[in-house]
Amino acid sequence: MPEFFTTRIVHLDPQALSPEAVNDAATLIREGQLVAFPTETVYGLGGNALDEKAVSKIFAAKGRPATDPLIVHIESWDRLTEVALEIPRIADDLVEKFWPGPLTMVLPRQSRVAPGVSAGLPTVAVRMPAHPIALALIKAAGVPIAAPSANRFAHSSPTTAQHVLDDLSGRIPLILDGGPTQIGLESTIVDLSGPRPRLLRPGGVPLEALVQLIPDLEVVTRYAKVEDGPVIAPGMLLKHYAPRAEFNLFEGNDDDVRAALAEEALRLRAEGKRVGLLIAEEDRVPLRAKLGDAPITMIAVGSLADLDSVAHGLFAALRALDDSDVDVILSRGYPPLGLGLAIGDRLVRAAEGRVNHVGRT
Ligand code: TXA
Ligand code: MG
Repeated sequence: MPEFFTTRIVHLDPQALSPEAVNDAATLIREGQLVAFPTETVYGLGGNALDEKAVSKIFAAKGRPATDPLIVHIESWDRLTEVALEIPRIADDLVEKFWPGPLTMVLPRQSRVAPGVSAGLPTVAVRMPAHPIALALIKAAGVPIAAPSANRFAHSSPTTAQHVLDDLSGRIPLILDGGPTQIGLESTIVDLSGPRPRLLRPGGVPLEALVQLIPDLEVVTRYAKVEDGPVIAPGMLLKHYAPRAEFNLFEGNDDDVRAALAEEALRLRAEGKRVGLLIAEEDRVPLRAKLGDAPITMIAVGSLADLDSVAHGLFAALRALDDSDVDVILSRGYPPLGLGLAIGDRLVRAAEGRVNHVGRT
């Protein structure tokens, strides 16, 4: 069992940071303790990346297997050489275009980074976040900060301080609350440690933007199991973002998907199951027309015309549906454009790979 803490939440205005609050948090990091903090993607659970003991506390607090490596966060691009080696030219171009921001690069690891960060791999994942609180904290701490998403293992990533508290209350001393995160999905991860750049995880930087700089980017979407170990599949666990409720994903054109969602919802309802629908704003009216007054929970995440709004609201909606105690969640799919690729990736993992393709094939 990890040590017990009375978890404090400290509210910070990202535009007017309190130096005392930042320094208190930085002191905890330097002392080898953990601090949860906002980034532009999701909340992270930070510890000193150079301190093996602090790193092992991160795994313990999350209940995360030690085979799943962490991302190291730095506050300025010139610190990259302090954590990574053999930095290829393409990394400079990526840094210039996307940092600070939701892009993580996997590179050969400097030996001063605690090996536990990388789950024993010779590489390290690094990013410079674009959030004033994250940057101020790393700077004040004076060390790179290892931070996975601040959720319990296999839950959805937290996009508010309350989500962090729900998962980690009593397990960490401090949460810095900077309000809801802007993007809502984790960073895009690109592996630059091999002969050819590979996209390991779609995320906040859209694939279309990456490919402009890396035309030969190899897209490897793999869904693996914990038992597969670190070398085969770091960060590609299939069972992830898993709600308590059974989760089913429906893909196809809008009309077919709406028809399938309504039919399945009514069938499950007739079996006495409580059903939650995870839909887009545009689905609400047509679905209500099909469902009549059947008591079925609907949560619209965002608009099909604005996939950024779907990304922003997705994890909060998953948590809200779980809290509403439904037995089964039925979700629509989204087109793989812009942030839609990352949205689809998270939904497939929430569904543990079960995707229903509906309509014409
Ligand atoms: O947006 C984000 O990236 C957030 C915020 C807090 O920065 N962090 C985040 O961390 O999503 P986490 O731990 O939930 O996901 C990091 C992923 C892991 O799935 C891990 O397997 C992968 O990055 N990863 C870390 N180091 C790696 C490495 N050396 N090689 C391949 N994958 C790596
Ligand atoms: Mg995570």
